[in-house]
Amino acid sequence: MRLSSERLMLREFRAADARDVHAYASDPEVVRYTDWGPSNLAQTQERVVAKAARGVEGDDAYSWAVTIRGEDRVIGSAEVRIASRDHRRAEFGYVFAREVWGRGLATETALLLRDTAFGSFGVHRLYATCHPDNAASVRVLEKAGLQLEGRLRDHLWVRDAWRDSLLFAAVSSGPSGIRAFDVSAGQ
Ligand SMILES: CC(C)(COP(=O)(O)OP(=O)(O)OC[C@H]1O[C@@H](n2cnc3c(N)ncnc32)[C@H](O)[C@@H]1OP(=O)(O)O)[C@@H](O)C(=O)NCCC(=O)NCCS
Repeated sequence: MRLSSERLMLREFRAADARDVHAYASDPEVVRYTDWGPSNLAQTQERVVAKAARGVEGDDAYSWAVTIRGEDRVIGSAEVRIASRDHRRAEFGYVFAREVWGRGLATETALLLRDTAFGSFGVHRLYATCHPDNAASVRVLEKAGLQLEGRLRDHLWVRDAWRDSLLFAAVSSGPSGIRAFDVSAGQ
């Protein structure tokens, strides 16, 4: 299941993407606020090969390689994870190579994921968490229409310390409860 927007194409990962992914997964600036990394090449390769074997969809999660339309190079990754089918609740996340920051591409991706979750997937509540100091990500989530709901204390154990997270969410304005929740729609 590929997704496209004005400037972006979100596609399945391929094993050959490991080099592109490693460029950002190994960058300390990129992983400063993530709960993983920096990754070494072997770790990146293992993860990319596993994602390539799995395809976009698997185990209630959708994982995409983000590319600029017309170029094949991977500039980031994006994910939607179905947290509860019964309650039509999903979480999303994204990470981008430093060289493409500040061009609105994360915002474009977040909007695309939001529209896909609410539209094709029938999600009702979409949420994301981010590090309290991650001002750029806070801004992206706000621009994608999510609202701050609160601070999750000691939410993550990262690099030998507890870490708070901010919780952002948006609720579908669609006809809740009427449409069957079908995450395989739109494939
Ligand atoms: C967070 C991240 C995805 C943002 O990507 P991006 O492509 O630069 O985002 P956009 O260009 O769409 O928007 C960034 C917004 O943040 C703002 N911003 C950037 N740095 C900022 C800072 N230090 N303080 C305040 N605002 C900041 C930009 O001005 C822009 O807002 P604007 O359009 O109102 O001017 C990117 O920095 C990244 O991949 N970081 C590492 C991984 C990560 O933190 N992922 C998110 C985990 S929750």
